[in-house]
Amino acid sequence: MNEPIKKIAVLTSGGDAPGMNAAIRAVVRACTYYRIECIGVYRGYGGLIGGDFVSLTAREVSNIINKGGTILKSARSQEFKTKEGRAKAYENLKNEGIGGLILIGGDGTFTGGLKFISEFNFPVVGIPGTIDNDIYGTDRTIGYDTALNTVVEAIDKIRDTASSHNRLFFIEVMGRDAGFIALNTGIGAGAEEILIPEKDLGLDRLEESLNQSREKGKTSSIVVVSEGDKIGKNVFELADYMQEKYPFYDIRVSVLGHMQRGGSPSCYDRVLASRLGVSAVEAILDRATGVMVGVTNNKVSTVGLNKAIKMNNDIDKELLKVAEITSV
Ligand code: F6P
Repeated sequence: MNEPIKKIAVLTSGGDAPGMNAAIRAVVRACTYYRIECIGVYRGYGGLIGGDFVSLTAREVSNIINKGGTILKSARSQEFKTKEGRAKAYENLKNEGIGGLILIGGDGTFTGGLKFISEFNFPVVGIPGTIDNDIYGTDRTIGYDTALNTVVEAIDKIRDTASSHNRLFFIEVMGRDAGFIALNTGIGAGAEEILIPEKDLGLDRLEESLNQSREKGKTSSIVVVSEGDKIGKNVFELADYMQEKYPFYDIRVSVLGHMQRGGSPSCYDRVLASRLGVSAVEAILDRATGVMVGVTNNKVSTVGLNKAIKMNNDIDKELLKVAEITSV
């Protein structure tokens, strides 16, 4: 007979994402609803190792659903990659009487969680929180939708100045090794070309496409470059190469950077985070472990953490076609 679960811990780890606070709020309030205590862990796995815990009540998570970042802070812990670090974390959870752990993060977070489960057989459930959308088993990760909107807004502004000065802009967006942000914002902002790691466009195609744009009378162009794309060593090198080869272009580079991770979450991310926070608590109470909760086809679903990090989400071929057709 399993002992009843009286306390659940929650942490945020890896790159922060808008909507993480909404997920924390939902976890805390689901714990209140099911009459169990919720323990917040500061600084991700670092706080788990250091015993940096705080008891969270429903009132303490008031007015955070609309806030970017994470009230629990986030980090990438080197110590949790060691056996000794994970053992300390386990001791702290046990000493505190915690019966389950909810991880809000991406693939690095879930990799650490899987290692922890394999060593200590502790109940762990993941919630996908990353702007990159590179997690299998959910249509979208928390933060992705907000990041898309932030990026489109930024590109719209760059387009204004690109158009005024007849310039060619290379705009680098985040996504680590995944091109979801680049492909979707490229379409949404009407980019002339989109460079993503999943599809090697090749320099020749890029040059041909920009030449065609000129011939068709376009006086300014936007190329959205995913940070993981391999066409040049980096966006600056690519721009330098193009400038040398095509001196008549007036080229500029804009790296959007960490502003993509900030800001108030969109309604979509708030609802997604709320659904996943509640279902993660329910999964722990149902004695699930080693799984991630997600939303697929608008239904809450679960998938093994190992699948969530190892099975790549494929880039939608239909989107690639739409990008090609609409950028003429
Ligand atoms: O995983 C989220 C992400 O923002 C990636 O898109 C990016 O490659 C990385 O994190 C940046 O990490 P850091 O904040 O450590 O520079």
